[in-house]
Amino acid sequence: MILRTAHWTVIPSVAKESNSMRIIDGKAISQAVKDEVRAEVAAIEAEGKRKPCLCVIIVGENPASQVYVRNKVKAAAYTGMESMLIELPATVSEEELLGKIAELNADPAVDGILVQLPLPKHIDEEKVIDAISAAKDVDGFHPSNVAGLWLGKDCVVPCTPAGVMRLLDSTGVDLSGKTAVVVGRSNIVGKPVAKLRLDRNATVVIAHSRTADLASVCRQADILVAAVGRPGLITGDMVKPGAIIIDVGINRTPEGKLCGDVDFASCSEVAGWITPVPGGVGPMTIAMLMKNTLRCYRSK
Ligand code: GUN
Repeated sequence: MILRTAHWTVIPSVAKESNSMRIIDGKAISQAVKDEVRAEVAAIEAEGKRKPCLCVIIVGENPASQVYVRNKVKAAAYTGMESMLIELPATVSEEELLGKIAELNADPAVDGILVQLPLPKHIDEEKVIDAISAAKDVDGFHPSNVAGLWLGKDCVVPCTPAGVMRLLDSTGVDLSGKTAVVVGRSNIVGKPVAKLRLDRNATVVIAHSRTADLASVCRQADILVAAVGRPGLITGDMVKPGAIIIDVGINRTPEGKLCGDVDFASCSEVAGWITPVPGGVGPMTIAMLMKNTLRCYRSK
């Protein structure tokens, strides 16, 4: 028998009721975040100051990257920030790309620099990430920012993990003492998500492709984050009744439909809260990028 927990404390305009389970509405929450940034940018402008400026670099013509980049520039325009899109051919040399980054690092009118990943094989991503000034690293990927996160310093936090935390906060659940499992150990999502939840006094577990009996590890989770890029990996039998599930996966079915790492149909029968795909974590990543750009602008 599946035990189902009822949660009726409604957080207005954040979560919708659906039987005993509630959907965490990433679209609405990301809109609220972008509106916060928009208000701050308007206040900066009203004071007659220079507005924040985000510079996005894309190399090549990866269709998924083109969509992401377009959405980032669109979000910047919505908040009222300045933005710059630099499109470089796939054949650009590593040296030329590093030269462009050096130019932007030195430009006082640029507050944030983002190089869309992945890069063509002939370019060393690590070198590129290291080359971006830590003060302009809106992705939070630079080693100084990574170290800052792990040492508990005030630093730029990567956008997707920051978005995950904002979604968790929307539930009003205190993470202290809870078991928080993340499936996936990437530098961009799995590891920072673990650290951010450790900072909230959760007991954290990082599960990955070599984890023995993933299902039983996941069933321990009061908060389960899936970030592996395997469609439907997490099924309802792997979920603790009432758990919060955050699906970071963005995958495509053979029919071209967007889907997450979580099998929504079976998991939503058991979970207390769940994020959809699309409309969950995806829009939060872009909203938190706007926050990070504003942060880099202010800490100059
Ligand atoms: N490619 C996929 N996600 C990201 C991201 O968050 N930042 C950058 N720079 N590239 C990405």
